[in-house]
Amino acid sequence: MKVAVFAGDGIGPEVTREAVRVLQALGLNELELVEGDVGAMAWRKHGHPLPAATLEIAHACDAILFGAVGDFGCDHLERHLRPEQAILGLRKELGLFANLRPAKLFEGLEDLSSLRPEIARQIDLLIIRELNGDVYFGEKGIRILPDGRRQGYDLMSYAEDEVRRIAHVGFKAAMGRRKQLCSVDKANVLETSQLWRDVVIEVSGEYPEVELSHMYVDNAAMQLVKAPGQFDVIVTGNLFGDILSDQASMCVGSIGLLASAALAEGTIGLYEPIHGSAPDIAGKDLANPMAQILSAAMLLRHSFGKEAEAVRIEAAVASALADGIRGHDLGGSHGTAAIGDAVLARL
Ligand code: NAD
Ligand code: IPM
Ligand code: MN
Repeated sequence: MKVAVFAGDGIGPEVTREAVRVLQALGLNELELVEGDVGAMAWRKHGHPLPAATLEIAHACDAILFGAVGDFGCDHLERHLRPEQAILGLRKELGLFANLRPAKLFEGLEDLSSLRPEIARQIDLLIIRELNGDVYFGEKGIRILPDGRRQGYDLMSYAEDEVRRIAHVGFKAAMGRRKQLCSVDKANVLETSQLWRDVVIEVSGEYPEVELSHMYVDNAAMQLVKAPGQFDVIVTGNLFGDILSDQASMCVGSIGLLASAALAEGTIGLYEPIHGSAPDIAGKDLANPMAQILSAAMLLRHSFGKEAEAVRIEAAVASALADGIRGHDLGGSHGTAAIGDAVLARL
């Protein structure tokens, strides 16, 4: 159980510290943690956000626990040197194409959701976000038009095999849940989405038990806050999934609660909270580490088949929340380490 720990920038190290304490408290004697530099801190130390030494560690490990990267002080750098390239580079380099972002309401948080309690109570969904394609990885740039105007462009594209493999992940996930899959696209406008929809329909033939539906992303954003209980599994592209998952987090109560797994066709997996480095609260003991602690649970489940240990961590987080342990993001006053302590006490 060799796990790379890439804590990164801002609140990344703060929340990762707590997740590592939780992992260590389980007393798994096969567990070995190896630290590596990513993001702005890696650029400052080594001149690159994803140094070769870090990539080497990633390749040598079974799983990665990733904090967050990002530093507004780096926004002037050429794109390939910006902190965000560390996470984008790892996703691409390791073929981490399937991003699982579950969103479920914790008991007792009904009043902390941005939605009315009776609506919030319904949320139990899984967003499956494609992570290796879309506008994220297409040709991009800023060019000068013949008349002298600057034009920015980012090519959106999906090849059919890329859609097919994420569709399979979506259908399989639905089979393990309530057997409903909603594919979110923008096929009324985008050719990329039309192909996406066609391929998802083709794949659906292999999963006759799954009820497949399609929704345009603008409507999906609306339905997510109107009636989130209608969703079981959502499968969508890279950009739409990024946006919808942040939105889903507030339906649950806070972005500080949502964990994620990024999986490949091989065995490696990367686990990270869906939030970023949160420079506005970094260093102030205001970060909620629960999203990262829950990511560690996903790591145990998906990379090592340690379901019992994953459930133990998730139950400890749920119990801490039920007992009124609240970070600042949830209107409480528990600091990062205090939340870690509360979870550890309930393990
Ligand atoms: P963000 O997710 O970092 O923060 C958004 C808001 O949520 C902020 O107000 C922040 O204080 C709050 N927040 C986030 N996580 C929290 C937590 N655990 N506890 C309490 N509050 C929390 O998004 P942003 O501000 O748009 O981006 C900041 C930087 O992070 C940028 O450089 C961005 O590119 C980067 N980013 C990185 C990742 C990643 O590493 N995977 C993900 C998202 C954003
Ligand atoms: C996320 C982040 C990243 C993304 C950024 C930091 C590249 O927002 O993991 O959700 O857009 O995928
Ligand atoms: Mn995001």
